[in-house]
Amino acid sequence: MDNFVFRNPTEILFGKGMIAEIASRVPTGGPVLFVYGGGSIKHNGVYDQVRAALKAHNLIEFGGIEPNPDYETCLKAVDVVKKARVQFVLAVGGGSVLDGSKFIAAAACFTEGNPWDILRTHGSNVAAALPLGTVLTLPATGSEANGFAVISRRATSEKLAFSSNHVFPVFSALDPQTTFSLPAKQVRNGIVDAFVHVTEQYITCQAAAPLQDRLSESVLQTLIEVGPQTLAAPKDYQARASLMWSATLALSALLGCGVPQDWTTHMIGHELTAFYGLDHAETLAIVLSGVWTHQLRRKREKLMQYGRRVWSVDTAESAIAKTEDFFHSLSMPTRLRDYGIAADDAVGKVRARFAERGATLGEHNDITPDAVAEILHSRA
Ligand code: NZQ
Ligand code: ZN
Repeated sequence: MDNFVFRNPTEILFGKGMIAEIASRVPTGGPVLFVYGGGSIKHNGVYDQVRAALKAHNLIEFGGIEPNPDYETCLKAVDVVKKARVQFVLAVGGGSVLDGSKFIAAAACFTEGNPWDILRTHGSNVAAALPLGTVLTLPATGSEANGFAVISRRATSEKLAFSSNHVFPVFSALDPQTTFSLPAKQVRNGIVDAFVHVTEQYITCQAAAPLQDRLSESVLQTLIEVGPQTLAAPKDYQARASLMWSATLALSALLGCGVPQDWTTHMIGHELTAFYGLDHAETLAIVLSGVWTHQLRRKREKLMQYGRRVWSVDTAESAIAKTEDFFHSLSMPTRLRDYGIAADDAVGKVRARFAERGATLGEHNDITPDAVAEILHSRA
């Protein structure tokens, strides 16, 4: 196991009625930017719960953050923050609202020039951010307890991530009841996204980190168990609660301590969203088994361990097949053609993007743009 620093400063307020708890945690000293998305919170009672909890606060609303939050929209919010001298950002919604809010919180304090540089440098130049709290309504990204955010720029078909310790939420309220209103497609997306967050930190090479392995396997097994349950019975509180907590732990700075990581599937997936508008999890389900098959020689040992412990199968190939079957069982497609995307078109565009950036990927940092092209070709 390599050296690591483990710090997760987010206070999690988990369970029924916990949105009320934010009242004592949101500062009253100045205006609070209340950020939300396209309006789901107005239909499922979450908006009213937040308003009721914060009746003594000075709330300035900023709605309209898109799924895959757009850079231009976030900049409009930054203007509001600056004009009104906002002191605290409250994000209420799914990963997109949380990520957009993290970017707003960082961009509002960014004095180094063009805020796009925050994304171009993946956050290394973020020196401060406004404090931020969240009320999560969609278990998937783990954004509620991590320092990552992913922002899309539709004008240039780009989608880039940044990370900074300054944008860890101060608190996140997770009431599983708020997720009862989710369409099945978003629940399915959340299961797959959380699943792949675990595998990106686990299906690499052996690292003498047996606890991280067992933690990862536990989260995967829980997702395999409760995912189908919660799709079949959307209002089963306990199943939804387990899904929500699993998704938080999947990307909360815990599983990846001191172990190699391989974010290839996510990196390729972000390009598929940027070019074709697919949902984030849809891209992951297409790419994941392509990466594993391409990297079989180097990942075989870990895939066999995963196969044995999680699926009770003996070979790496069967572990890959089981994973794809699991995605299909959630009604998640796994091929480019399922979305009418020509593989040649995707290969050309995505390969050029990685070549332009001079990017190499993988736990050995040797997955080249040509290898990315081969991976995508295999997912026609
Ligand atoms: O916008 P509203 O009206 O709120 O509707 C949303 C949106 O249309 C809806 N929704 C959310 N909660 C709901 C609900 N509808 C009914 N009931 C509820 N309780 O769901 C739709 C999708 O929401 P979105 O926030 O886009 O989904 P998700 O949470 O999957 O977030 C996806 C974004 O997160 C990024 C992705 O790239 C993508 O941009 N990621 C962020 C990560 C992070 N910060 O650590 C890591 C991930 O790998 C991922 O890249
Ligand atoms: Zn993800």
